[in-house]
Amino acid sequence: MKSFYITTAIDYANGSPHLGHAYEKVLTDTIARFRRQMGDRVHFLTGVDEHGQKVQASAKKKGIPPQQFCDEVSEEFRALLRKLNISNDDFIRTTEKRHKQVVRAVLQQLFDKGEIYKAEYTGFYSTRQEQFLQEKDRLPDGTWPELFGEVTEIAESNYFFRLKQYQEWLVNFLAKNENFIFPQYRQKQVQEFLKEPLNDLCISRPRERLEWGISLPFDDGYVTYVWFDALLNYYSAVVDRPGVWAEAHHVIGKDILVPPHAVYWPIMLKAAGISLPKGIIAHGWWMTRGSKMSKSTGNALNPLDLVAEFGADAFRYFLIREMNVGQDSDFTREQFLVRYNSELANNFGNLVNRTLNMATRFSAGVVPAAEVEEELEKSLRDLWTKTRDEFIPQCEGYQFHTALERAMVFLTETNAYIEKRAPWKLGKSTEAKDQALLRTVLATIAEALRLVVAAVQHVMPSTTEKINAVLGYTPGAVWRDELNWGDKLTGAKVAGALVLFPRPAPPEKAPAPVAKG
Ligand code: ME8
Ligand code: MG
Repeated sequence: MKSFYITTAIDYANGSPHLGHAYEKVLTDTIARFRRQMGDRVHFLTGVDEHGQKVQASAKKKGIPPQQFCDEVSEEFRALLRKLNISNDDFIRTTEKRHKQVVRAVLQQLFDKGEIYKAEYTGFYSTRQEQFLQEKDRLPDGTWPELFGEVTEIAESNYFFRLKQYQEWLVNFLAKNENFIFPQYRQKQVQEFLKEPLNDLCISRPRERLEWGISLPFDDGYVTYVWFDALLNYYSAVVDRPGVWAEAHHVIGKDILVPPHAVYWPIMLKAAGISLPKGIIAHGWWMTRGSKMSKSTGNALNPLDLVAEFGADAFRYFLIREMNVGQDSDFTREQFLVRYNSELANNFGNLVNRTLNMATRFSAGVVPAAEVEEELEKSLRDLWTKTRDEFIPQCEGYQFHTALERAMVFLTETNAYIEKRAPWKLGKSTEAKDQALLRTVLATIAEALRLVVAAVQHVMPSTTEKINAVLGYTPGAVWRDELNWGDKLTGAKVAGALVLFPRPAPPEKAPAPVAKG
């Protein structure tokens, strides 16, 4: 059995989760479920990033201790995972002992090896980005770009990690491992970035300036800088699980690819003598009218409102169907409703209803065996074979949006097949030929439905489970086999009805985007 370890970024515990966070969980869950279906032994980690200035400040604003603040926020993130039906195996909080121990051990090891040194530092610092800035980050008029928020000048002694000396090694590593970062064009951006000389990385804050962090094992007057702490979560969560780390894949947003995940992280691991992850998947952003949804701009949608209104699976479907992994996408309620109505209600839901109705009406609720194969049946079956053959490679290449689109095309064709065969007319005929064709239609559409259900179950786990239940069907253990056209439903006793994707409430009650501060 092949191991597959997959992680999400750990979200800052300084505010409530928003749509961007929800998307990353759903995407990672889709990958995790797909790999499990493929037979891998999957370990799926997510969690929260609880240290740093932002969390300290948010707790202070609320007038509660940071630990209590983190306890509350991390509960919100856990609740979101449950609501979205996320199949994570573990949830890490960076305030946990298991994490702090590993961070301190790695820091001590690097310090002993001379990879960490102390120096005086003067420079400009962005709290919003948790990052020191350079002169080249300024706009032509000398001010700092909006994205950095408030920028302050700082002069203090700090600890530095010898990043610079690994630059050439990293350049060579990326040249040899072309597919380290997905999509590949993002790897090219990292390679561009590495054409400029790197600076050593400041990894500490004096305790008097930042109380809320992991203290350096070799100097108690300092706490660990946010990235050195946060990135190590992927490793600290699995140190006690042999074989897991070796198959690590990280799903993150493009904003934290360069430099944290694509530069700091590989170099930190290299310096510590730990093997590198197998890959990094950098997704794009959900936007509202052209700008990134985020807590700081207050334009973020609350995913829980959409889940409450449409159900977790419709929400998951939309996110995966709409987003080409790596690119950005605008989130609009209109577009959500278009897909919900046309693809889920009118296409998928419709096939479920027709299958159940007609089996009940014409065959006493039992799926008959197919008896004839004419051109119409053959071409539907051929379309499935083509869809199926492309499906697994598409999912393996994170082209889930295309895979879903093809599944939708197949559903459309299945519904069109029903129109052409007009089983309601065949049902009125007493001729043996028509009766045989009617049984064939019932068998064909039930099988088509079963196949689509098998194909989309990693995106819509609970809907597909419900459909299998009303079809009286229990899928076999080998998922690949479930994708083969056959007669698995022959003789199955189906239920009379299943309500899926109900019409949404009239638009006047449409909730406006919720601003999260
Ligand atoms: O960056 N669309 O936390 P975070 C899509 N704690 N994804 C989005 C998004 C949007 N509009 N907004 C945010 C951090 N994200 C660090 C990570 S990892 C060791 C430490 C994604 O809460 C973002 O790209 O700001 C990131 O991958 C994740 O949400 C957490 O963002
Ligand atoms: Mg962020």
